[in-house]
Amino acid sequence: MAPKRRSYQASATPITVFAHLLFIAVTILVLVWLIKFREGLSFTSDNKLKLFNLHPMFMIIGFVLISGQAIMAYKTIPATRTRQKIVHMILNLIALLAGIVGLYAVFQFHHDLGIPDVYTLHSWFGITTISLFTLQWLFAFFTFWFPATYSARRVNFYPWHVLVGMVIFFMAILSAVTGLTEKFTFIGLKREQEALIVNFTGLLVFLFGVSVGFTVLLPTSY
Ligand code: HEM
Repeated sequence: MAPKRRSYQASATPITVFAHLLFIAVTILVLVWLIKFREGLSFTSDNKLKLFNLHPMFMIIGFVLISGQAIMAYKTIPATRTRQKIVHMILNLIALLAGIVGLYAVFQFHHDLGIPDVYTLHSWFGITTISLFTLQWLFAFFTFWFPATYSARRVNFYPWHVLVGMVIFFMAILSAVTGLTEKFTFIGLKREQEALIVNFTGLLVFLFGVSVGFTVLLPTSY
């Protein structure tokens, strides 16, 4: 007889709490960085750096953190599976819309300043991540909501949805970290307070990604 699979002997709940604390810390760090240390945020200002700053804000707080919350919804929302699915779908849609606004900001910034598009590794990862995220959302929507009844296709697709979803989520983390590193170099940071804020944002975003990954593997209770 095949040996029974061992469980991790741990529950996802404390890790979801940790992930929520990271969510708050990253949000504060990003806003303090962009508002206090950089030029602030605006779609319409003549200072185009304010337009650029909307890019990291929407990508980190909107795209990365909210899609992480969408993944954790199955562990954090005490409701029926159907309600958890609805929250998961809506949060992922909000993350996607935020990602699109964040991309609009950086493309518009490049256009206004005559900077070429999609020439860095960061931008290649970023474009690929958003494209795959959109495809995954559409594919999941048409598989899990239409038809609403259980089918073999739906059951077979589920583990792939989880696996591919985690890969795309980690690509989003990678895009955010490469974006922070790139900006760090562009603005010539070294050891000042702002440098620490940017680096800690990257570290905490990475830890958020690891925590979300753990909550997928661990059960709510064991
Ligand atoms: C999931 C998160 C992110 C994604 C998907 C993403 C995606 C992109 C894309 C597609 C571009 C190319 C725009 C163009 O060529 O016109 C870009 C540019 C840029 N992004 Fe991000 N980004 C993310 C997060 C960040 C963060 C957190 C920063 C930090 C400030 C950042 C900094 C930059 C910079 C400096 C550029 C302009 C230079 C370049 O094209 O690489 N990004 N991003």
